Amino acid sequence: MSIENVMVIGAGQMGSGIAQVCAQAGYTVVLHDLKPEFTERGMSGIRKNLQRQVDKGRMEDGEKEDILARMSLSTDLENAANADLVIEAAVENMEVKSALFAELDNIAQKKTILATNTSSLPITEIAAATQRPQKVIGMHFMNPVPVMKLVEIIRGLATEDSVYKAVEEMTEKLGKVPVEVNDFPGFVSNRILMPMINEAIYTVYEGVAAPEAVDEVMKLGMNHPMGPLTLADFIGLDTCLYIMETLHDGFGDDKYRPCPLLRKYVKAGWLGKKSGRGFYTYE
Ligand code: CAA
Ligand code: NAD
Repeated sequence: MSIENVMVIGAGQMGSGIAQVCAQAGYTVVLHDLKPEFTERGMSGIRKNLQRQVDKGRMEDGEKEDILARMSLSTDLENAANADLVIEAAVENMEVKSALFAELDNIAQKKTILATNTSSLPITEIAAATQRPQKVIGMHFMNPVPVMKLVEIIRGLATEDSVYKAVEEMTEKLGKVPVEVNDFPGFVSNRILMPMINEAIYTVYEGVAAPEAVDEVMKLGMNHPMGPLTLADFIGLDTCLYIMETLHDGFGDDKYRPCPLLRKYVKAGWLGKKSGRGFYTYE
């Protein structure tokens, strides 16, 4: 199962990072989003990241140009007809992902693998929106994609071994470490990380400490590179809420109940770094 042409759906922080590492590893990449301004914003982040590598002497200018030449932008899903692998990184919402997978299933060639970068949603349910559940798989990258080594790989109920192997090999070619986990809400990463973030938000909500103090405790006391509220802003508070809702729906346990303060911030449009305001404010 040879993969050469990759299409990435969603040019937000994850999709643009995934497109960048794929192009760096030699794949031809189409980066797709709903509007040209979204794909252009994603591409401008990629250009900046690559330029930083050049400025630091880690990449030749020619190499940067070769990487950029392997990339193109799309607002037409029909471009999926040329892809060997589609990696979906649109919003963390089952309706959006199911609709996208149903459409991709109609457009993409029969052999094409449809992967999702979902943080928490069941792969088996996303696969059920298609007529090719054997070719659907979870490929969960971590943020920021160019830096973080892990990719969780999740099989749906029907995922073929050959599809798993192809995705595992590709992950290694990207310079990442694949870890296989089973299809349960939040997989391993977010089942453990997100309740900690939610608890940090409850700590602020209940007046135990200010956001700065909570973050300082976890950074200096537990050696976390970012405090949980800085990390929540970095991930996106909308994404954090969607993940908590998936855990709460999936397990039914009160310990996964999203903090009301998280809901309030998302309703206010305070989505963290990407919207300029969350627990902190950003330029
Ligand atoms: N894109 C590309 N590169 C980036 C970057 C970005 N957004 N942010 C930082 N970097 C690079 C920098 O260029 C720098 O590279 P060099 O060493 O090559 O110069 C390197 O990362 C370190 O950056 P900084 O020195 O500026 O800052 P730092 O040492 O504080 O590291 C960090 C930044 C790597 C983001 C670090 O703070 C960290 O590891 N934070 C925690 C990240 C984390 O937990 N990610 C997982 C989130 S959960 C998830 O992704 C799953 C989900 O489903 C929600
Ligand atoms: P984001 O908000 O930065 O970007 C999402 C992008 O998807 C936007 O540009 C949006 O226009 C686009 N989009 C929405 N609907 C679309 C559609 N129907 N077709 C094409 N594009 C569409 O979000 P993000 O942080 O990049 O997250 C994307 C996915 O990756 C989510 O499933 C999220 O759970 C997952 N994820 C996020 C993180 C993180 O730390 N933020 C980490 C791992 C996985």
